[in-house]
This record gives sequence, structure tokens and C-alpha cells, in this order.
Amino acid sequence: MPDLKDRCIAITGAGRGIGAAIARALAADGARLTIADITGEDARQVADAIRAEGGTAIAVAVDVRDRAAVRRMIDETVKAHGRLDVLFNNAGIAQTKPFLDITEEDWHTVTDVNALGVLIGMQEAIKTFRAQGGGGKIVNTASIAGKQGYEPLAHYSASKFAVVALTQAAARAFGKDGITANAICPGVVATPMWKIIDQGFRDTGLTRTENEAFDMFAAGAVLGRPSAPEDLVGVARFLASSDSDFMTGQSLMVDGGMVFV
Ligand SMILES: NC(=O)c1ccc[n+]([C@@H]2O[C@H](COP(=O)([O-])OP(=O)(O)OC[C@H]3O[C@@H](n4cnc5c(N)ncnc54)[C@H](O)[C@@H]3O)[C@@H](O)[C@H]2O)c1
Repeated sequence: MPDLKDRCIAITGAGRGIGAAIARALAADGARLTIADITGEDARQVADAIRAEGGTAIAVAVDVRDRAAVRRMIDETVKAHGRLDVLFNNAGIAQTKPFLDITEEDWHTVTDVNALGVLIGMQEAIKTFRAQGGGGKIVNTASIAGKQGYEPLAHYSASKFAVVALTQAAARAFGKDGITANAICPGVVATPMWKIIDQGFRDTGLTRTENEAFDMFAAGAVLGRPSAPEDLVGVARFLASSDSDFMTGQSLMVDGGMVFV
């Protein structure tokens, strides 16, 4: 079991879904958590639940597109926990649109959160890691859509390819500082995000019934079932701990066997 005791970890998009599951598990391992989300109330509920279970957590409302807010999130983490050891850039949004219908506005809506938000998070965390000394870890949430382009998710896929690229570039840029950057690529995870994607498939006439798109995609996993948020906990624990110290620039597929790269 990796030793995460007192490791200071901030997770964006941790108010629900994959981020919340990772946060609760790492807090149970003894890490000190910052639960960050654009929906402050969701972040507060997750932090309250962690504290009720005997863990350490603060909640911060943050929009990852807003550099000043991201800076505040990191500063509040350092104030509450003493330092920042790991930042999970996990916040993300999905939008389902047929390729020819994607507008400039749609492009910016999706990529501003999923790609620019990750760049800002990485930059602000890396500044703090360098000022502190002793290295640090970036863990980004990419996707199977960071390795394959999907219809009707072209702009979402492009934003996740960007996450993989940012992960590789930062690994090359900051290895000399002892800073690692890796990414997790989930497959089809039962979270509120997939409800939005599933609705989008129905709205565009690609599927008819609820969960049809979810079931269709999940059927591609050789392990024979869709993912639950908890399926991402093991890799998150590994990437947050010293067990992954000699690994950087990697984007790990944790998708039940959907995409082999
Ligand atoms: N669910 C899946 O099947 C799946 C698959 C691959 C990758 N992912 C990625 O995993 C990550 C988490 O997804 P999820 O399924 O848990 O989604 P989710 O919608 O359940 O949770 C995402 C969280 O991010 C928050 N958020 C959205 N925009 C934000 C912003 N601008 N600033 C701060 N917080 C913001 C939301 O409020 C929400 O709490 C995302 O990056 C997503 O793209 C999900």
C-alpha cells in the first residue's frame, strides 16, 4: 500500500464523480485533501464527508479557467496543509455535437475547461513546487478520447489529446526539478458526465433510449463492464505516491480494456 500519510493533495472537479471518489480514497489513506470544484456546495459536501470519516479536507470553490482563482486554491492548500505535493487536474466537461455542427463557441466552451484549465492548473502548481523545492506531482485526467477521436465528441476528444500533450511537454520541461506529470485515461465511467453524453446522443438522434449510448460504448471494454469512479482509485493512489517517482510523461489507460496503445 503506497504511503500517502500527510501528503498534501488538491483535486479539481472533486465535488462529484471520479474526482470525489479519488479524494475520499486518498483521504482515507491519510492524505490531506483540498476538494476544489466550480460548484462550491458539492465541494463542501465532499470535504464534510471526509472529515466525518476522520480525514483531513478543506473545500475551495474554483473555476479552473480563472488563473486568479486557481492561484487562490493552491495558496489556500498551502495555508491549510503546509505545502502542495500533488495536483490532480481532474475538472472537465463534455458536450455532444455532430462534427459539422460544432461552433466556435462550442469549441471554446469545451477546450477552455478541459485544456486551458489544465494548462493553468499545471503552471500554477509547478510554480509552487519550484518555490517549495523537493519536486511535486501533476496528475491530469485525460480520457480514452485523448487517444482516439470519437463522433459526436470531436471537440471533447481534441481537448483530451491536448491534456496528453501538456502532460508530455511538462514532463520534459520539469523533470530536472524532480516534478513529474502523468495522466489517467478513463473509459466509460458511470458519473453525471455520462448522463450528459448519453442525453447528447439521444438529442442528436444517434440513440433512442436512456443509457443506450453508455451501454454501447461500455460493451467495448474487454473486461465486460462499464467503469465505476472507484475503478480509477488504484491508479490515482499510485500516481500520488512515491511508488510512481520514476515515471513521467505517461498517460495510463484505465478503461477495462477499450483502447490499446
Ligand atoms: N465519466 C467518464 O466516462 C469519463 C471518461 C474519461 C474521462 N473523464 C474525465 O474525468 C474527469 C471527471 O469526470 P466525471 O465523469 O467525474 O464528471 P462529472 O461531471 O461527474 O464531474 C466533473 C466535476 O468537474 C466540475 N467542473 C466542471 N467545470 C469546472 C470548472 N470550470 N472548474 C472547476 N470545476 C469544474 C463539475 O462541477 C463536476 O463536479 C473529467 O475531466 C472527464 O472529462 C470522464
